[in-house]
Amino acid sequence: MPSIYSILEVIIIKVEQADVLIIGSGGAGLRCALELFDHNVDVLVVGKCKKRDAHTILATGGINAALGTMDPQDSWQLHAADTLRDGGQINDPYAVVTLCKHAPRAIQELVSWGAHFHREQDGRITQRFFGAATYRRACFIGDHTGREILNTLVDQVAKRNIRFKSEIYIFSLLQDRGRVYGAVGLDVRRGKFIVFHAKIVVLVTGGHSRMFSRSSSRFWENTGDGIALAYACGAKFMDMEMFQFHPTGMLYPKEAEGVLVTEAVRGEGGILLNSKGERFMRRYDPERLELSARDIVARAIYHEVQAGRGTKHGGVWLDITHKPKEYILQRLPKMYAQFQHFLGIDISREHMEVGPTAHYSMGGVWVNHKTGETSVNRLYAIGEVTSGVHGANRLGGNSLAEIIVFGRLTGATIAKCVKQLSWIPLNKLSLATQIAKFKTKLQIKRGKNPVHIKKELMQVMWDHVGVVRDGKTMKQALRLLERFKKMPLKSGGSLKMNEQLIAALDVANMLPTCEMIIRSALHRKESRGAHYRSDFPTLLARWKKNILCIPMQKGFRIATRPVPSVPNEIRPFLRRNTAAVHLLE
Ligand code: FUM
Repeated sequence: MPSIYSILEVIIIKVEQADVLIIGSGGAGLRCALELFDHNVDVLVVGKCKKRDAHTILATGGINAALGTMDPQDSWQLHAADTLRDGGQINDPYAVVTLCKHAPRAIQELVSWGAHFHREQDGRITQRFFGAATYRRACFIGDHTGREILNTLVDQVAKRNIRFKSEIYIFSLLQDRGRVYGAVGLDVRRGKFIVFHAKIVVLVTGGHSRMFSRSSSRFWENTGDGIALAYACGAKFMDMEMFQFHPTGMLYPKEAEGVLVTEAVRGEGGILLNSKGERFMRRYDPERLELSARDIVARAIYHEVQAGRGTKHGGVWLDITHKPKEYILQRLPKMYAQFQHFLGIDISREHMEVGPTAHYSMGGVWVNHKTGETSVNRLYAIGEVTSGVHGANRLGGNSLAEIIVFGRLTGATIAKCVKQLSWIPLNKLSLATQIAKFKTKLQIKRGKNPVHIKKELMQVMWDHVGVVRDGKTMKQALRLLERFKKMPLKSGGSLKMNEQLIAALDVANMLPTCEMIIRSALHRKESRGAHYRSDFPTLLARWKKNILCIPMQKGFRIATRPVPSVPNEIRPFLRRNTAAVHLLE
């Protein structure tokens, strides 16, 4: 029972109201907000990071759309076939068709809002190769495409004066008889609680690559926040075992470990060499070589290192020295600066040392891609927090396309229905209980330091549930997770931004996320896409299905569902057989 003080505190707490609350201020959230605003819907965006610093800025190499500017033979159907094939054909075909059909419009829209893309002398948008793409399809600006897109969207949001709040950690969604009607957050700059009252909530919180110690995300982001919020209100999840390890991340120094080395380096002609100087991709995918699918390249590197052909820091060499320096500076300026900054290396003269890094969550909250609705009433989701678009593996360049396409479409769907929804009144007593419980959790004075626990948890995931997995080590991870769950965390006391507070919030979100990943990965007894089990190394037709995590009174249960069938318009484009190059050797 909350005390009279916590009830009073709730009464005087700040309440923000909007028809639609968007949780997450990256590209998906902003694109959705623009659509809602343009349909006269009152919308509020809340993000945990600073404006213009959402994770979208880390997406570097490009955004896919079958424009055919370089290769006129390209088509949205081929784009869809590549996406399905790369996804181990467990993607939601409806979502794939929607993504690929609408991606060209997404580029036009961004251009009309002032986004710059690299262009040929005659004005055509340049498109470059990315892994597993039949044709050049990635539009880009240098290797800072995500930043360009996010800045463009922020400018549009500012132009419309859309309400936007930064540095708010949402820790709970408000729910009444199954319906979501807002959220409670902590304003970490002021150390104050804030309540958001809305008719509809949209989760656009990104992925969960920070479950792993080596990750292309920054330490404080992609910590599974949206997964935990949806989990707590009984949402259904899909494909949680499907997690992408990007083949090329930096390996050292410590502060740079995992930082992305864009696939665009290989798209621009970069080659991979082992410590013997062999172009080892010839053994793993002789046809596509370095531009093979990400899962194949990541495992090839893993295998080279295991076989004793790795470099000093446990990776391989990436070489782009055969390209002129001016070209590198124009096409890959961020990579050039990154290696200069961390290692004093000039990549136009020296090789880069690289290895796999946790990069993208294909699994996540189940959504109906026709509407963006989750399985929870009045809760929607878009982007990396969701599942279904990418199946077992994601094509580089598809995530930026996804956030723009589904941001717009979900915004349009919500705009059609939100006006007819009634307001659910705020329940002050339940609010007081939630805040009091949360406050108690964050003011524990004795226990383990959450910063250390977060690091340990990430290490367990990297060591036990990484690029190559097996049943025995994943069961060990599950046992360790049970121990973490029981540990009291000394969260400090101050509710203002500090490392311990943020880590305590993160660990709480990471635990259910990790558990769903491990249990789903244990359930899938085969290898498909990014999920590779050394104890079940082959792809099996009977596993062409999705694994679901279904909420229960306490925890969740695992179930499966058949994959919806591929539409006839895509089938002929899918015929190329890639099974032969799927596995390690
Ligand atoms: O390598 C990259 O530039 C990553 C792009 C992506 O994941 O889409």
